[in-house]
Amino acid sequence: MRVGVLTGGGDCPGLNAVIRAAVRKGVQEYGYGFTGFRDGWRGLLEGRAVPLGIPEVRGILPRGGTVLGSSRTNPFTADDGVRRIKDNLAKAEIDALIAIGGEDTLGVAARLCDEFGIKCVGVPKTIDNDLSATDYTFGFDTAVNIATEAIDRLHTTAESHMRVLVVEVMGRHAGWIALHSGLAGGANVILIPEQRFDVDEVCAWIESRFRVRYAPIVVVAEGAMPREGGMVLKDGSHDAFGHVRLSGVGEWLAKEIENRTGNEARTTVLGHIQRGGTPSAFDRWLATRFGLHAVDAVHDGDFGSMVALRGTDIVRVPIAEATARLKTVDPALYAEAGVFFG
Ligand code: F6P
Repeated sequence: MRVGVLTGGGDCPGLNAVIRAAVRKGVQEYGYGFTGFRDGWRGLLEGRAVPLGIPEVRGILPRGGTVLGSSRTNPFTADDGVRRIKDNLAKAEIDALIAIGGEDTLGVAARLCDEFGIKCVGVPKTIDNDLSATDYTFGFDTAVNIATEAIDRLHTTAESHMRVLVVEVMGRHAGWIALHSGLAGGANVILIPEQRFDVDEVCAWIESRFRVRYAPIVVVAEGAMPREGGMVLKDGSHDAFGHVRLSGVGEWLAKEIENRTGNEARTTVLGHIQRGGTPSAFDRWLATRFGLHAVDAVHDGDFGSMVALRGTDIVRVPIAEATARLKTVDPALYAEAGVFFG
């Protein structure tokens, strides 16, 4: 049995831990051979295969990013994509494929498996933690830790100058990073994409914080939007890679706060720092277990399935269950944080 492995979508701390665990278990326990494909589906479309054995995975557990590279290429939008994928899998003598990725990568794996008979097993990843069917995705814990450390540091500089500090964190559609890091870092306002915010209410919280002589920290997810509209995005157009740039809410909000309250405000956009560097212990643990269980799913012939965390168990679910809808922050959970606002 020869197993192909690829990583697609935005990189995420823990990808290398999955690759290492799958290869170690597959080689040692099942006698499998492994082949990596470079840069997600793009490398498979272009037939860019690389050897993936025990020597190649040695020492990669604590490394961020992905040794295989990644891309957001979707083979269904490429010319003759499915035929090229089938040809390249045949050429590399691949019997089954482990696809590690988010919504898009897994959606492609589900279609290739269900509609074209390509034997795929999925492993969920995203720092955003917004994939259904799994309690947590690896990468999320690392991102929350990075954001929390940043908030801790911003508290002291905010206090020194009695300024408002707005921290923009990742999360286009879901506010998990904002909510978790905001609570962990003792933020005074947390704004998430799931619930539109009222700028005057935010300003009232800020003023109440200043009244007790503390400088407020506002954590805002990149996808959060004001209720009243009027927010002008820095750039709503597509970039060279076809992504819509939705950043800008942090800066916009800081200006509104300055104008409406007269308090000085600054913005820190954490951006890709949240995705870089070594994974946390939790993410290494989760990613390692996902890798081990993904190879078991291949061994059992459980194709079209994805590994997922439920409590402390790793289970298998249909890939489609994870991609059908996003897992967003429940209003009741967000409401819990409200006691700390202001
Ligand atoms: O989905 C993961 C994520 O990090 C989002 O939080 C963020 O909006 C997006 O990827 C950024 O994508 P890119 O790396 O293409 O700028």
